[in-house]
Amino acid sequence: MNRIFSGVQPTGNLHLGNYLGAVRNWVRLQDQYECLFCMVDMHAITVWQEPGQLRQHTREVAAAMLAAGVDAKKNVLFVQSQNPNHAELAWIFNCVARIGWLNRMTQFKEKAGKNRENASVGLYAYPNLMSADILVYKATHVPVGEDQKQHLELARDTAQKFNADYGLEVFPLPEPLILGAATRVMSLRDGSKKMSKSDESDYSRINMTDDADMIDLKLRKAKTDPLPLPESPAELEGRPEAANLLGIWAALADIGRDEAVARFAGQQFSAFKKELTELAVATLGPINAEMKRYLADPAEIDAILAQGAQRARALSAPVMAEVQDIVGFLKASG
Ligand code: TRP
Repeated sequence: MNRIFSGVQPTGNLHLGNYLGAVRNWVRLQDQYECLFCMVDMHAITVWQEPGQLRQHTREVAAAMLAAGVDAKKNVLFVQSQNPNHAELAWIFNCVARIGWLNRMTQFKEKAGKNRENASVGLYAYPNLMSADILVYKATHVPVGEDQKQHLELARDTAQKFNADYGLEVFPLPEPLILGAATRVMSLRDGSKKMSKSDESDYSRINMTDDADMIDLKLRKAKTDPLPLPESPAELEGRPEAANLLGIWAALADIGRDEAVARFAGQQFSAFKKELTELAVATLGPINAEMKRYLADPAEIDAILAQGAQRARALSAPVMAEVQDIVGFLKASG
């Protein structure tokens, strides 16, 4: 049986890029697989998080998932820190994975920057916690973007070394799940920059919490160029804003970008933007309203997550017990 583990960092300001790149995929996966969807707050604190904000962001991501249609009854939707087995297995993996492997992780190099001596030990060991997230459930598949492929490779290496060291086929080697061409959603102010939660200008992104009026305003203000929309995909060359807006339309409509180009060929931006706004509001409007409803009742979110954590713990407990025994830890008796 295939089992999917997917992790997302609880960062605030979820935007259209997160929706099209991650949240929507989760909604689709749940129909095909047994899924665990985890908000990885322990990964988040590898860099400084304001405690109140971390709590708020964790609830926000949960609300976004629920609002977008993730079924918390059918899937296991939970917060990483509410299942201590992740941290326990991560420690064992700290003792299986090699320093040389971690030294090759490009994300650590990027995140630690020049001042590597001052990065947290957690940031360095981050991939081992990620391996534990996946393997503590013996998950077989992990949806990953480009930036997490190397970490998944490390999880496979770690699973393999653990199996080889102890001479037992304990862990499956988790496979990446490639979810078709990812939509790269770019800033509405600069088509060459990724849409980002940390851009100073709120007009650069559509947030999942923006209502219809705000979506309308932001798309009307979105940067364009003076030409009409291109007649062919080749003419998008050198027109990053046109490419981005057409890409967003295509992703929302769930069609290829070339099809979107054909549909709006030769039209003025003003007409196209009207249709784009309608589609964005039709898609995000209901999600946005539902998200607000959830966020108005944090106790409800917390209760849903507590149930998810309970189910997660029940799934990981036998694996953890098996691993502890294999490693040679004494069983607590009595
Ligand atoms: N590292 C992932 C990210 O930043 C999040 C993550 C943590 C994850 N644990 C995971 C993703 C396990 C997939 C599987 O996006």
